[in-house]
Amino acid sequence: MSAILEVHDLTKDYRLRGGLRRPVLRAVDQVSFTLTEGRTLALVGESGSGKSTIARILARLEKPTAGRVVLRAPDGTQVPGRFYRDYVQMVFQDPFASLNPFHTIAHHIARPLRLHGRARDRAQTALLVDQLLERVSLAEPALARRRPHELSGGQRQRVAIARALAPGARVVVADEPVSMLDVSIRLDVLKLLARLQREENLAVLYITHDLATARHFSDEILVLYRGRVVERGPADEVILAPRHPYTKLLAAASPDPLARGRAEQIGAEDEIDAASAATAYDHYTGRWTGLQAG
Ligand SMILES: Nc1ncnc2c1ncn2[C@@H]1O[C@H](COP(=O)(O)OP(=O)(O)OP(=O)(O)O)[C@@H](O)[C@H]1O
Ligand SMILES: [Mg+2]
Repeated sequence: MSAILEVHDLTKDYRLRGGLRRPVLRAVDQVSFTLTEGRTLALVGESGSGKSTIARILARLEKPTAGRVVLRAPDGTQVPGRFYRDYVQMVFQDPFASLNPFHTIAHHIARPLRLHGRARDRAQTALLVDQLLERVSLAEPALARRRPHELSGGQRQRVAIARALAPGARVVVADEPVSMLDVSIRLDVLKLLARLQREENLAVLYITHDLATARHFSDEILVLYRGRVVERGPADEVILAPRHPYTKLLAAASPDPLARGRAEQIGAEDEIDAASAATAYDHYTGRWTGLQAG
């Protein structure tokens, strides 16, 4: 197992409009983590905690205010910036918004194949498009010629996943990939992501509100609160034995009965603020870190 994507002390400030003092919102505050081949890291936290900001920075849609993102090839050397998009691909929340209504499904998959130099000619492109659609279980012959609105939401998200794989991605960042889908098909799409991850040995960042799926589909969990990591560790431990008052609160609100049952002590909001201002619990070291510990 080797590290693929290292995120070091990522910080993002948004300058808010108005006023002479130009107030700044710190959306992400010194967040560090590593994505590893064949493993899924879940990023959980309430709305506004900075999850999508991290995703956008990893997708290079935004620049961080401070911190570094280092991408490594299998031999450990740093991958040059111009190849970043070959390695790191996104799956967004809304498959409808991320697909172009004027283009066919085949076009959506063929484009990254050509852009990233994975197909030499038309015949090879067509073959790879078919293979990719088959890998996301969309093997119906006529489907490739349809347009996004002629597909169901679940099918559209499968297309978005195939498109992410087309450049030969090693890292997939999935920002709430199933939250816009009908409840009945969410699990199927998550299972598909999990299968592809195993088959391709991908590193996956799974961003979600949902602790139950975070636990079932990831190896590790990172809990964000107001832009800061407040707890991290193996998925089962974080969910079943949360230590930070904020994680306890999240677990208590989770529909997963097992997670809920174990979160006996729920912190009050001021307790959460006091704790998160100063500390984070790391299940790997068994330590609280941060201002209080230091
Ligand atoms: N372009 C921007 N300008 C100013 N503030 C922003 C901008 N983008 C995000 N923010 C703020 O940064 C914070 C983090 O937003 P972000 O979208 O990362 O949250 P999130 O955890 O993804 O939330 P959700 O679960 O609702 O998707 C929020 O307070 C948000 O209002
Ligand atoms: Mg978001």
